Amino acid sequence: MRGVFTFLVGVTATANALSDYSDQKVCRFHTKNVTEVKLKLQKYQDVSTDIWTRSSQFVDVRVPANIVAELEGCEVIIGDLKDTIAQTYPSAEAQSLEKHFEEVQQLLQTQDPFSVLKGRHDIFFDQFRDLDTIYTWLDLMELTFPELVKIELVGQTYEGRDMKALHISANNQALNPEKKTIIITGGVHAREWIGVSTACYFIYELLTGYGANKRETKYLNHLDFLIVPVFNPDGYVYTWSHDRLWRKNRQQTYYPRCFGIDIDHSFDFHWTGIQDFPCSEDYSGEAPFEALESESWNNYINESKSEYTIHGYLDLHSYSQEVLYPYAYSCDALPRDLENLLELSYGLAKAIRRKSGKNYKVLSSCEDRGSDLTPGLGSGSALDYMYHHRAHWGVQLKLRDTGNHGFLLPAKYINPVGKEAYGALKYFCDFILNPEL
Ligand SMILES: *[C@@H]1O[C@H](CO)[C@@H](O)[C@H](O)[C@H]1NC(C)=O
Ligand SMILES: *[C@@H]1O[C@H](CO)[C@@H](O)[C@H](O)[C@H]1NC(C)=O
Ligand SMILES: [Zn+2]
Repeated sequence: MRGVFTFLVGVTATANALSDYSDQKVCRFHTKNVTEVKLKLQKYQDVSTDIWTRSSQFVDVRVPANIVAELEGCEVIIGDLKDTIAQTYPSAEAQSLEKHFEEVQQLLQTQDPFSVLKGRHDIFFDQFRDLDTIYTWLDLMELTFPELVKIELVGQTYEGRDMKALHISANNQALNPEKKTIIITGGVHAREWIGVSTACYFIYELLTGYGANKRETKYLNHLDFLIVPVFNPDGYVYTWSHDRLWRKNRQQTYYPRCFGIDIDHSFDFHWTGIQDFPCSEDYSGEAPFEALESESWNNYINESKSEYTIHGYLDLHSYSQEVLYPYAYSCDALPRDLENLLELSYGLAKAIRRKSGKNYKVLSSCEDRGSDLTPGLGSGSALDYMYHHRAHWGVQLKLRDTGNHGFLLPAKYINPVGKEAYGALKYFCDFILNPEL
């Protein structure tokens, strides 16, 4: 018996409500010393700048166009920021999936889900999708695969939205007696849309492969999956309605004009209230787990998932094309089982290379976050917390690209990135199911 299924129509982002970045560019500085870059920017205190990424080789910063010429060492990597942003949203006619969802639901009345979806190109992945469309699509997955999927409520956000996890399992007690679980999160940072679409891509591949392909059948029989495609729903909605480049959640801070805590600095592991200001993009809050998303998440896995043994944690971010292993908070902290952790990380990168030829660098998260250069910067991360307290293996994947579009990857990359990252997920599952470990 199928429940009543209602369709939600996404709210279209209107161009005039969006932050205008027409006078902004993105600079690349070829250094890993973020302090050096911050010093260069210090004399422009009244203008808005934003560090996009600090990698082991470069630091990318959004700056006003009129200071670019004076900034020594700035290589402009995105010249027309406004246009690059505009290209990431679907056109109005491509945005509505209502008809598609209705069609699929009708087919489901008379055909089994596998024949409805198998071999069918899912137009869901043709564009980035707003939160309502994603949540409707998750409902459709639950409706299509009721034996495999349960949508679970992790908690609620500051603005009252649901944070949802998809629990995928063949519920095979005999084959998975200890409830071995893999956790995947996307969209911790609101503007990193490719992480959200990739988490959805994983969901689709796992579900449509079960019973049809050997590997997916084995994975779902021997593993449970908890997948949170949109870890930061308020921030995500904000990137559609107001500011495509928003990163944090949308919580009120002590400073009335500045909203948002960086969820990935809010976890209670080596949490440090760095001297950052609530307006900054890295703001960690005034106490660990102050971000409602990280707190709810902790309660959810601690309470409702206490009998599950979490073997793997995969956190999807962008951009830089990197596989990051713990710890983030300090390069002096040695992760347990380092040799195997490195084998896993290089294996993930290799799996991606074999799928698409793309190169992902493997490094410790502390290097990527610059925590050895700026103590405190790497603290309170989801990866460290999950790895230290909850999951046996943990990595963060920073997806494409390496700077041509940065956070603003066009929609045509959704499928290729999904495919290469799914190659990595398969390696991750095989690694965890390897009896020798
Ligand atoms: C980073 O740059 C700052 C400012 O130029 C300098 O004081 C510091 O020593 C540099 N750090 C490293 C590790 O090179
Ligand atoms: C998890 O829950 C248990 C019991 O509910 C509690 O004793 C423990 O302190 C919790 N751990 C964390 C890290 O919240
Ligand atoms: Zn991120």
